[in-house]
Amino acid sequence: MTTNAVISGWGMYAPSRVMTNHDLTRLVDTSDEWIVSRTGIHERRIAADDETTTTLSVHAARDALAVAGVDASEVGMVIVGTCSPDYPLPATAVLVATELGATRAAGFDLQAACSGFLFALATGSSFIRSGMYRHVMVIGVEVLSRFIDWTDRNTCVLFGDGAGAVLLSASDQPGGLLGADLFSDGTGCEGIIVPAGGSALPASAETVAGNQHYIRMLGREVYKYATRQLAESAASALRDAGLGVEDIDQFVFHQANLRIIESVQKALGIPDQKLFINIEKYGNTSAASVPMALVEAVAAGRVKPGDRILMVAFGAGYTAGAAVVEWTADPTRAFLAPGDQTRLGKPRAEAQAVVVG
Ligand code: ACO
Repeated sequence: MTTNAVISGWGMYAPSRVMTNHDLTRLVDTSDEWIVSRTGIHERRIAADDETTTTLSVHAARDALAVAGVDASEVGMVIVGTCSPDYPLPATAVLVATELGATRAAGFDLQAACSGFLFALATGSSFIRSGMYRHVMVIGVEVLSRFIDWTDRNTCVLFGDGAGAVLLSASDQPGGLLGADLFSDGTGCEGIIVPAGGSALPASAETVAGNQHYIRMLGREVYKYATRQLAESAASALRDAGLGVEDIDQFVFHQANLRIIESVQKALGIPDQKLFINIEKYGNTSAASVPMALVEAVAAGRVKPGDRILMVAFGAGYTAGAAVVEWTADPTRAFLAPGDQTRLGKPRAEAQAVVVG
């Protein structure tokens, strides 16, 4: 019998501190009009001083476990897709697993920049399909605010912090990952890079003085490559699933730039009502972007059991990932799950009222 890896739980966490475009005009020479017209971003979330990549992950993952009704001790593996870990070592996923109480889980980080969540989703699905694990926690998370040069207007207006998580569970029913495409091209190394702090350019007083531990980006080159590659990766994942654009019920793209999303929408012929967008609230949260958008799409009633979702992301490397997933869970489980944490950004009582009312 075939074992499928279905999404049984989901959750997200956005730090409560909001930074608006207007706030950024006090840091760099920019304007709300420039940022909105070039990117579609109105505001982003910034982690509090006592928050880390681990704490954001734990919030999102706890919700995913509560929604699935699975105890942390049943989780066999925790994969954290991130390029802004707590430390170069140990891996963030190990700390997340321990904090969750997933004492039997193997944890590791997966670095594929903004494509990290989709690389992790494909990896986690493979471990379940092989029969090795029954439950795998897949997290996309970033605290990029700690890796941003707040004097560089080319980058600081784009990024934000957040986390999204899905629990993958073994099922003998149809559903889960139907097709995927993972892509990487190292010729894009200079396109988006943190130059210092690794083996190529170890940390030194000079690298710190030169702000070389922060993200640098060649925006125009990245824009052109991303626009082309997102469409190609989407088409490859659809081919892998044996489906066409018309067979997809909801498209969830990496929220990097509204113009990039709209250009790919046009290239693929996607109607507005099938395209979920939340970039205006969070900016580019890199590996967290796709799972946060997925969770909000489900909360917004955009997804029902049997629906097929195409998720696509592009990031530093360059990397790109695309996955076609058949959704099987009852979307209202998110509002009914036990626990006193806020869910999907709403107080629990209000979230329940959505279902009841
Ligand atoms: N405010 C005002 N002006 C600005 C700002 C700003 N924040 N940033 C740049 N400008 C200026 C530039 O200096 C330039 O001025 P000039 O013409 O006098 O030289 C002008 O605006 C136009 O700059 P461009 O770079 O051509 O602007 P563009 O329309 O390309 O938009 C942007 C820039 C938004 C960065 C875009 O190129 C983009 O989104 N690129 C892709 C980024 C992306 O998708 N990254 C994803 C991966 S991230 C990851 O993996 C971690």
